[in-house]
Amino acid sequence: MNFLTTDTAKAFTGKHVLVRVDWNVPYMDGKMLDATRLINTRETLHLLQANGAKIVVLAHYGRPTLAKNERKAGNNTPDLFVMEGAFSFKPLLADMQAALSLDLSYVENPLTSAGSEHINAMQNGDIALCENIRFFGGEETNDAVFAAKLAALADFYVNEAFSCSHRAHASIEAIAHLLPSYAGLGLAREISYLKNAFESPKRPLWVIVAGSKVSTKIDLLLNLSKKVDGLIIAGAMANTFFKAQGIGAGQSLVEDDYIETAREILKNATAEIVFPCDRLAVEKLSFTEKMNVISVDYDQLPETYSVFDIGEKSRRLFIEKLQNAKTIIWNGPVGMFENDAFTGGSFAIAHALGHLTEKGVLTLAGGGDTLATLTKAGCLDKLSYCSTAGGAFLEYLEGKSLPGIEALV
Ligand code: 3PG
Repeated sequence: MNFLTTDTAKAFTGKHVLVRVDWNVPYMDGKMLDATRLINTRETLHLLQANGAKIVVLAHYGRPTLAKNERKAGNNTPDLFVMEGAFSFKPLLADMQAALSLDLSYVENPLTSAGSEHINAMQNGDIALCENIRFFGGEETNDAVFAAKLAALADFYVNEAFSCSHRAHASIEAIAHLLPSYAGLGLAREISYLKNAFESPKRPLWVIVAGSKVSTKIDLLLNLSKKVDGLIIAGAMANTFFKAQGIGAGQSLVEDDYIETAREILKNATAEIVFPCDRLAVEKLSFTEKMNVISVDYDQLPETYSVFDIGEKSRRLFIEKLQNAKTIIWNGPVGMFENDAFTGGSFAIAHALGHLTEKGVLTLAGGGDTLATLTKAGCLDKLSYCSTAGGAFLEYLEGKSLPGIEALV
């Protein structure tokens, strides 16, 4: 794998460089909610600028469907492009420039003559943002001819989008075979942390897996339960495991289709698996009114109640288990952190990980909800590394190879 460094970047002077970033950031009512993914790419952009590269940024935003559906309907034109207003970068451009403190020019379609003229006229250090790459029908189908058209725009390719690297898409996978390709600074850092934490960790390695649906994390649990030393399973997904062991889940979410798999995981695990020993529950969930929250031992949940957080005993139990870990990975809040009545469990974990990091433990967290929890707890900068990747982070921990990373090797 080639890495972008202060040395390798010297070759980019006066050259066009396609940089794939993940600027798929959350927006609500026209306001950017979190700029972390943008900010994380600044170092690479600065390095390229400092070396006089002409930077052509490729990125996606959301999941547009028009080009994709047209392609499915049989339109295989390699440069098929369909604008879809709701997913356009154009209205977001000013916000993005402000978050990055960088000037960006806008290219609607780089494969038109206007687009290529714009790109050809760029000066050293200029940055052009191309419109949502998913407006091209060939992007998600990893179309080699489309990728070749993109590649013809530049001399080099940099992947600075670890969080998209689980997608075999043209601007991630196919293109990396067509140009001299490099891992961006952020992507390289992300892989290095994940490797240290997961491939060759200092043991004991403990992983906390939580969140609402066990169905989305089955592959993860299957892999982890045989690979790590300790596994804490919490959040609503623990209910399915409780039910698999004959313990009541009241009215809580249980995925009955996964009870058998949960049993298999428990039977075949080599890791020590730890579940909550008490739970916070309510009869009626509310975001506006005061609730009557009860704290009960894990096997004492009344049938009419639903669980939304772990109790004090579980917090102590989990933190005690983590004390001897040398490496800890966290994915998924252990309670419904969006509701202030149920942030306690996740906050306790967040603060404990912060303290353990200070003591020299390597701590990693990943996934949108986990980072939102850490932010709410004021602990985002207290861990060794926080990954903004969701799907890519999970697939890495599931033991799957990521097409975007494989293509760089
Ligand atoms: C993400 O938000 O995880 C990445 O931007 C990938 O987006 P996708 O799941 O739509 O491919």
